[in-house]
Amino acid sequence: MENGKPMKYQSMAKLSSRGERMGATLRMWVSIVLFVLWLITGISGVFLLIGPLAAKLGIPLPVSLMDTLHIYLGFAFFGLSVVHLALNWPAMKSYFRRLTH
Ligand code: HEM
Repeated sequence: MENGKPMKYQSMAKLSSRGERMGATLRMWVSIVLFVLWLITGISGVFLLIGPLAAKLGIPLPVSLMDTLHIYLGFAFFGLSVVHLALNWPAMKSYFRRLTH
């Protein structure tokens, strides 16, 4: 309890400040882009996995395109994951603190 307000309402008041709202928007966009990158990296990874077998069965798959997508978007996914971790670090810290106490 600070400023005579219960904790719950204090954090809500903080969240409505301009900086916090921009932070929340950035976090949201990083998460959405991360989801799309995860999906494409995962799907192209499956293409790379079944590509050789499909070729043996006479089913041509766009392995070369998938390979390019997988490598570039895979590394973008990895890099953005670090940004995602950094942006969500306070939440993550409080989660682990709660787990260990
Ligand atoms: C999302 C889950 C992922 C799946 C299911 C997946 C799956 C695969 C598969 C099946 C291969 C082919 C392996 C082979 O040729 O024997 C591969 C290759 C590769 N993956 Fe992934 N992967 C994933 C995520 C990532 C990420 C995040 C990165 C980058 C940080 C990455 C980088 C690579 C690279 C550099 C190759 C080698 C490509 C080549 O041989 O030309 N992958 N992956």
